Amino acid sequence: MATASTTETPNLVRVNHHNAKTFAAALLTASGVSAKNAEITASGLVQADLRGVESHGILRLPSYLSRVRSGVLDPAAEPELKQITPVVAQIDARNGFGFPAAHLGMDTAIKMAGVYGIGMVSVKHSNHFGMSAWIVKQAVDADMMSLVFTNSSPALPVWGSKEKMMGVSPIACGAPGGKGEGSKPFILDMAPSVAARGKIYKALRRGEKIPTDWALDGEGKQTDDPAKALEGVMLPMGGPKGSALAIMMDVFSGVLSGSAFAGGVTGPYDMSKPGDVGHFFVAIKPDLFMSLDEFRERMDVLYQKAVDSEKMHGVDRIYFPGEIEQLNEEQRLKDGIPYAKAEIDALNAEAEKLGLGKIPLIE
Ligand SMILES: NC(=O)c1ccc[n+]([C@@H]2O[C@H](COP(=O)([O-])OP(=O)(O)OC[C@H]3O[C@@H](n4cnc5c(N)ncnc54)[C@H](O)[C@@H]3O)[C@@H](O)[C@H]2O)c1
Repeated sequence: MATASTTETPNLVRVNHHNAKTFAAALLTASGVSAKNAEITASGLVQADLRGVESHGILRLPSYLSRVRSGVLDPAAEPELKQITPVVAQIDARNGFGFPAAHLGMDTAIKMAGVYGIGMVSVKHSNHFGMSAWIVKQAVDADMMSLVFTNSSPALPVWGSKEKMMGVSPIACGAPGGKGEGSKPFILDMAPSVAARGKIYKALRRGEKIPTDWALDGEGKQTDDPAKALEGVMLPMGGPKGSALAIMMDVFSGVLSGSAFAGGVTGPYDMSKPGDVGHFFVAIKPDLFMSLDEFRERMDVLYQKAVDSEKMHGVDRIYFPGEIEQLNEEQRLKDGIPYAKAEIDALNAEAEKLGLGKIPLIE
């Protein structure tokens, strides 16, 4: 897993996950989000922090709330659901937060899959929903397999171009794990770039350098400076293959849904216009062709064979997709979530603007 190299260790503080969620929900409700939608959004953000995907955690709130204050994101919008066929539904997020629309989307897909074996939901006119894994987890917790796609604002060139066109749109999917001791669910959640753009913003906020294979600067040269990287383009993983996956996210999430596509999505740090993000969710019942127990036993075999396979030189342990993040979560549920002091200061400044108290720290 790629991480930003640190020139200077940021001053870290720790926060209990319950307090992080209560604080995030309070900022959202004070900004006009309903209690239910604030809870869903805060939960998605804190799950990212728990899993070690801090680039998509509560530190996103200042930019989200700036978009609310700029009038380009409607905090009070309620997603509208339309049943298209017994196994297909469409959601109009009506320019509200992406989290409630995504939660309703996966919940609807799960309910349809529970009856018919499969459920598919297309979401239009939405906004950024953070880390895709929380939506995959929603399906895993309901014993469902899932696909979770979204498009996002232009950051990545179509292979061969130096123009930002496709989003660094994560491709995510999952399946419930086995029943064996220590067996983990399969949770894949990856951006089609060498690194997610949120990690560049995080490095910028923390005053860190980035690996030179993450992005090109505005002149098309490799750079370790996050500010210069944000002026240029992200590099797709695997060259044309990563670029093709980004196009796939736009076909399924943008073209199909009726939302923006082909470079038309507005990013979460842009205060000028609505996001018009599209999402695409599928839930699949894993016991369509055998019992759930048999499916879980087979997942157990896959997990064990994968993590017990012969290690390459220099590797101490082999992980299943999503396992590193699950181990982070287990640790952080006990010890609290580490945040950079500067990020906490920015969140407290938001709370002050809204007349709320500071986020409580673990002493
Ligand atoms: N909503 C949006 O528009 C948006 C856009 C970009 C990224 N994101 C989010 O950013 C996050 C970060 O994406 P990323 O691509 O940088 O993730 P990443 O590179 O950290 O991880 C990608 C996948 O690889 C697996 N993995 C990583 N290291 C591994 C190892 N050593 N062994 C086995 N598996 C390993 C992870 O479990 C994960 O499933 C994601 O959660 C994504 O949803 C969201």
